Amino acid sequence: MNLKPAQFSSLISAKKKIKGEFVPPPDKSITHRAIFLSSLSLKKSCIKNPLLSADCLSSIDCFKKLGVPIEIHKQALIVSSGKESSTSKFRSFLKPNSKLDCGNSGTTMRLLSGVAAAQNFKSCLTGDSSLSKRPMKRVIEPLTKMGALIQAFKDNYAPLRIKGNPNLKPIDWKSPVASAQVKSSILLAALFASGKTTIEEPVKSRDHTERFLKALGIKIMSNERKVTVWGGGSLQGLDLKVPGDFSSAAFFIAAALLVPDSFLVIKNVNLNPTRTGFLKVLKKMGANIEIKNLKERFNEPLGDLEVRASSLKACSIQREEIPFLIDEIPILAVLATQAQGESSISGAEELRVKESDRIASMASELKKMGAEVEEKKDGILISGPVFLKGTKLNSYQDHRIAMSLAIAALLAEGETKITDFDCVNISFPNFLKELNKLID
Ligand code: S3P
Repeated sequence: MNLKPAQFSSLISAKKKIKGEFVPPPDKSITHRAIFLSSLSLKKSCIKNPLLSADCLSSIDCFKKLGVPIEIHKQALIVSSGKESSTSKFRSFLKPNSKLDCGNSGTTMRLLSGVAAAQNFKSCLTGDSSLSKRPMKRVIEPLTKMGALIQAFKDNYAPLRIKGNPNLKPIDWKSPVASAQVKSSILLAALFASGKTTIEEPVKSRDHTERFLKALGIKIMSNERKVTVWGGGSLQGLDLKVPGDFSSAAFFIAAALLVPDSFLVIKNVNLNPTRTGFLKVLKKMGANIEIKNLKERFNEPLGDLEVRASSLKACSIQREEIPFLIDEIPILAVLATQAQGESSISGAEELRVKESDRIASMASELKKMGAEVEEKKDGILISGPVFLKGTKLNSYQDHRIAMSLAIAALLAEGETKITDFDCVNISFPNFLKELNKLID
């Protein structure tokens, strides 16, 4: 990968603000799930407004290798109908004749493991150097218990060599981690198992897969931390329009809150309560954000947000809140540098096994900018407000670190250079273009 750096200068010194209307890129988690479930479906599917970022393209490429005809158009993905498998009520896949490359995408690798576990062939799932360091035991264990055979490097890392089993057994699984990727991997495998599978999490994680399956007529039940799904159903194709990604919108929410005199309207963003913990925390910090035009589409709430520049108080975030704002913690760390008092985030060790060690990445780069930061094993302490100064920063080739540091750079005095900035293509390819449109 040839990644380019990016340079930013202070909006505050230039007396500029964030102003206008912003339509966030389509939701990454929802696009992945739409690709997976239409690939399993027997009838034609149409996924409008898909996110065509590197991560979602990894999911598309893997299913193409499994023989699923997916046409990529700018405004939609069309997945043609398929033939029923001889071993399940889902689409029949071809045995892949090369490795299934999941790129940088944890969602692709973990969800695909669940599908590969139920096939009557062997497949090998690989990833880039970051994904090859991320833990996979969390899906290997339950899928093995269901009857798949999985070999992994040091029992925990990609490449994953999966010998599928078309006669998977249902399980009752108590997951040690709150992870929607793990939950979804087991849910997908459970669709192929005859009987009832239950997954319990220590804290509830995002519930897009459950909402999708319910909307598509699969028998599924969930309460706070437990989900039960019945195998033996089938999928007949889907037709949906993907809403805007709240996690991508979070960077611009932060910019509008922190740059004086800003006013930003964010249109058609997904507001699933298992994704919007960041909004709850911001309200407690004193942020002026209003929700407008709340509606529902394909079992998911969405609406508009009006964000005004605000002076913020410190926050305190505990383990139970983490899954609902897991991807927003890097940008929350930037907000904390500008909030009055000591902010503390704890119970967030999962951040250490994301695309980079996000606790270490944010602590080291914010310190370089002059922030008062203390790294903890399971989180971070940040005191504010402090003046940030521009300098050379490392994105660790992690899209959410790169975008969080870019927002910090808008507040910092002087110039900031961020390495490998092209990694934003993982989730938000037009980040710079959209940001520039909003600077007034
Ligand atoms: C995702 C779940 C989260 C999140 C990731 C996308 C998903 O990971 O961090 O960006 O689409 O299911 P975990 O649930 O494993 O924490």
